[in-house]
Formats: sequence, C-alpha cells, structure tokens
Amino acid sequence: MKKPKNLNLYAQSGYRSYERQESIFAYYVERSGEEKASRVSANAGHSEHQTGLAMDVTTPEVNFQLVTSFEDTPEGQWIKENAAQFGFIIRYPKDKEKITGYQYEPWHLRFVGKEPAKVIHEQGLTLEEYLGFE
Ligand code: DAL
Ligand code: ZN
Repeated sequence: MKKPKNLNLYAQSGYRSYERQESIFAYYVERSGEEKASRVSANAGHSEHQTGLAMDVTTPEVNFQLVTSFEDTPEGQWIKENAAQFGFIIRYPKDKEKITGYQYEPWHLRFVGKEPAKVIHEQGLTLEEYLGFE
C-alpha cells in the first residue's frame, strides 16, 4: 500500500439508532418526497448504520458534506482504492442503483471483512451480487 500523504478523512456518521434514522428519513421525505427520499436514505429499521457496520466519511475539501464530488478528492480516491484492504466496501457504487436500491454514495463504507471486500473490490461487485442475491 502506498503511504497516504496529508489526507483529511473524517467519520461523519456511524452508528445510528432507530429514532435517529427515522428522523433522517423524515427530513429527506420533507425535502423531496417519499420516492426520491427512499433512493438516498433508508427507512428506519433498514439502514446499515443501525447495525454499526457502516460509516460515512468525508473531507474538509467538500465542507464535510456527503456529496458525490467526494469521489474526486484525494480522500475519495484513496478510499476507493484502499478501503478493501481494511475490510470495507463502497456499499452503493456508481451505476448500481438498480441492484442496491440506492444512488451512488462514494462516502458510505460498509464493513464486510477483508476477504469479501477484496473480491468485491477486485470484481467490481455489489454486496448483493457477491452474496448471490442478484
Ligand atoms: N444513505 C443510506 C442508504 C442509509 O440511509 O443507510
Ligand atoms: Zn451511510
């Protein structure tokens, strides 16, 4: 692994309670309606964040926001290339919305363990495809 230089990675959201997820989902419904909301946020009871196995990461360069442009930052690039070595995958990859049910989230990491993460990363799979659900 190449040694990363001066990366500023911040964990923005990790474990969430049912109530916290409920209020996040309600916020998106209020903002853009149920259909759009359900493509960017999980309903309460359905978020990986409630398992404690997911973490949203960001960087000051995008003002600590969870935005698609995170993928263009050095931090986003580093995550894409190196997360798997630590057992994490980008859970909602680009152009896989039909499979995952969610829009591209370059910031949402899901811990799956090193071996599964390696296969998923190298073969460009979603977790659904890796598990044989698709
Ligand atoms: N943004 C992801 C899908 C979640 O709410 O768990
Ligand atoms: Zn997330």
